[in-house]
This record gives sequence, C-alpha cells and structure tokens, in this order.
Amino acid sequence: MGRSNAGLLLGLLLLQFNSCLALGGGGAAERGGVFPVVVSTWPFREAVRAAWEVVAAGGIGGSAVDAVVAGCSACEVLRCDGTVGPGGSPDENGETTLDALIMNGTTMEIGAVAAMRYVKDGIKAAKLVMEHTGHTLLVGEKATAFAISMGLAGPTNLSSPESIEKWSNWRQNHCQPNFWKNVVPAGNCGPYYPINVNPVHRTVGEIQGWLQSDNLLEPADSHLKSIINRHNHDTISMAVINKVSNSPNSKLIFLSM
Ligand SMILES: *[C@@H]1O[C@H](CO)[C@@H](O)[C@H](O)[C@H]1NC(C)=O
Ligand SMILES: *[C@@H]1O[C@H](CO)[C@@H](O)[C@H](O)[C@H]1NC(C)=O
Repeated sequence: MGRSNAGLLLGLLLLQFNSCLALGGGGAAERGGVFPVVVSTWPFREAVRAAWEVVAAGGIGGSAVDAVVAGCSACEVLRCDGTVGPGGSPDENGETTLDALIMNGTTMEIGAVAAMRYVKDGIKAAKLVMEHTGHTLLVGEKATAFAISMGLAGPTNLSSPESIEKWSNWRQNHCQPNFWKNVVPAGNCGPYYPINVNPVHRTVGEIQGWLQSDNLLEPADSHLKSIINRHNHDTISMAVINKVSNSPNSKLIFLSM
C-alpha cells in the first residue's frame, strides 16, 4: 500500500479511537494571509497555545510539524476530553493504548503508531516513525519497542484510576454500549460471533438499539448523535501553517487526535 493511501485508510480507521492523527496538505495557504495559523477542533486551548508557542517562535520556516507535536503532546499530557493520551479511554480489556498519525504537509510523508502499549508519547512516536523509518505505521508492542529504542520513556503504565473505573462501570453495564455490530450476543459481554454463523440467536430485539452504537464508553442517545458527535470521530484536530505561507518551508498540517 502506498504511503498516502495507507495514511488515508489509517485516518478513517482511527477516527473513533483515542488517537492522535495528523494529516497535511502543503501550499494551500493564500498569499497575503496572516500567519502563522493554528486551528484545532474542540475547545482545547492549551493544545493550541502549545502549538502556537512553537510555530510563532520559530521565525521564518518554524516547524509546523513540531508545532503539531507540541499541541498534540499537550493534549496527551492533559488527557483532553478524558480520552486523549495515557489514562484515557480503555479498550475492552481495560487497557489504554495510543494511536497517533502525523504528516509533513510539504513532503506528504506520514508516520503513525496504533494500539501502542506502554509508551505515553503517541504523537512523538508517530513523528519518529515518519522521520526514521521507511514505514507508515507501527502497531502494538512493535511500536512500543521502536519508540523506546528511539529514546521515548517507557515501559509505562497507561492506565489511570479513571480509565479503570470507566472500564469496570462499562463491564457492570453488560459491556454496553460497544463497537460490535451484527454479532451475537448483542446484549452482553462476548465472546461475540457473526450473526450469520448462529442464525438461531438472531432476533431483532437482540441487535436493535445498539447497532448504531459507535463508541465504547459514550452512549449514543440520538440517531444524529450516533453519526456525528464529539465522541465518535476525532478527539482533537489541529491545523498549523507557518509564518510564511509561500516559502518552501511553509506547511499545512491537519491533526486529529
Ligand atoms: C518536511 O520535510 C522536509 C524534507 O525532509 C523538511 O525539510 C521539513 O523541515 C519538514 N517539515 C517540517 C515542518 O518539519
Ligand atoms: C496501572 O495503573 C492502574 C491505575 O492506577 C492500576 O490499577 C494498575 O494496577 C497498574 N498496573 C500495574 C501493572 O502496575
């Protein structure tokens, strides 16, 4: 798979996770605009501020990539929205793992980690993948080993009392809501099977109401909310453009965490 295709696919795959994702397209800025620019989804002011400090201090050619890393890292540390970074939303086994993707908007290079365990710096690990490997995506414990070998701290416990509590509350609620669909059992914890394998268990009542459920720990309380709300796509998205929009060093970075 080509790098950019993989990145797009990854972007789609990661949208529902507690991830950090950066995408970019270069040269989109208009002449005469006011730069630098930092934009983020959601009211994560500390993240924008952290990105701004880097890109505004950088002078001509200040690194938009570094600004995105600073902004994203701030959210990882602050656990923005309770989902980003270490201690954020756990998976079905109660474990918090991290996803992150970054793109250099000039070169279109991508680096990403997914389901990374035991390392708390998701976006920094993604940048290391971009800058020091020919890969697009490293996952799981391979991502962990890579990140630690490149100098990031670890192994670290990514759980927090809050993530453990979220998980046990979710277990007590029969593992509802969750990300499964077209499986049985519908209304309780797994193991799950495709409905076609066990047609005898397939009743409308079993699957109704939770087929549209698209977030592990946040109930979708209306049809529209289940399609778009702050809990089922990115957890932070950020765009950074350097001071000089038409210089070769100008970058547009779009970041989603
Ligand atoms: C993007 O990559 C190019 C080529 O390696 C590099 O010169 C530039 O500094 C990178 N951009 C950022 C914002 O890091
Ligand atoms: C990791 O941290 C969580 C939350 O503080 C704690 O419950 C758990 O025991 C820790 N795990 C390990 C292996 O230390």
